[in-house]
Amino acid sequence: MRHIGTNTLETERLTLRRFTVDDAEDMYRNLCSDNRVNKFLTWDLHKSIDETIELMKTFEKRYENPARYCWAIVLKESNEVIGTIAAPTVKERIEAVEITYAIAFPFWGKGITAEGLKAVMAYLFKEVGVNRIEAGHDLNNPNSGKVMEKVGMQKEGVLRQAGRNNQGLFDLVMYSILRSDYNNRVRN
Ligand SMILES: CC(C)(COP(=O)(O)OP(=O)(O)OC[C@H]1O[C@@H](n2cnc3c(N)ncnc32)[C@H](O)[C@@H]1OP(=O)(O)O)[C@@H](O)C(=O)NCCC(=O)NCCS
Repeated sequence: MRHIGTNTLETERLTLRRFTVDDAEDMYRNLCSDNRVNKFLTWDLHKSIDETIELMKTFEKRYENPARYCWAIVLKESNEVIGTIAAPTVKERIEAVEITYAIAFPFWGKGITAEGLKAVMAYLFKEVGVNRIEAGHDLNNPNSGKVMEKVGMQKEGVLRQAGRNNQGLFDLVMYSILRSDYNNRVRN
């Protein structure tokens, strides 16, 4: 892999770019204070925007490491930050990354995560040289698995009680896509 950090990506409706501290207001309103969004995630709800400001400062600092991949999803029509796609786990030895994502509740079901994820997958496979992109979701959160299927990931199995989120321990449904799968998919 050749780590090049979080660079800006464009899709039809979205700009994917680095977070800045100026995104705290959108992030607090859209993601960090909404329990419909964080139910199946690992972070606690933010009690005030101050926590979101601190989080954004942490994100800004992390971008100094070229192996950090964490995008803000910006809706072009309103210039609002409505979600995130990130690869918080990088497995150097097997040239793999694990991805995760979240979208603000009013924007669910509009194909936004799939649209952003396709751009992130192209970047990771073609620019960074990743061989395997993996993702896992709580068995009780099937919508997340549908996103994975829509972008061409394959289900690999269920790891029993292998994850912990705000609901507690959960059975982890694992998906992946390999660079060879991706190349075949793009070709056909
Ligand atoms: C899971 C989540 C990211 C889905 O995002 P999304 O932008 O709504 O997903 P998309 O619109 O790209 O959906 C892709 C496919 O998934 C399915 N899907 C996703 N959300 C759905 C919903 N609420 N109801 C029914 N189907 C849904 C559809 O089949 C859809 O395909 P289609 O567009 O061809 O109909 C979003 O619900 C979310 O942020 N949830 C909270 C955080 C979370 O659970 N993150 C994942 C942690 S593993």
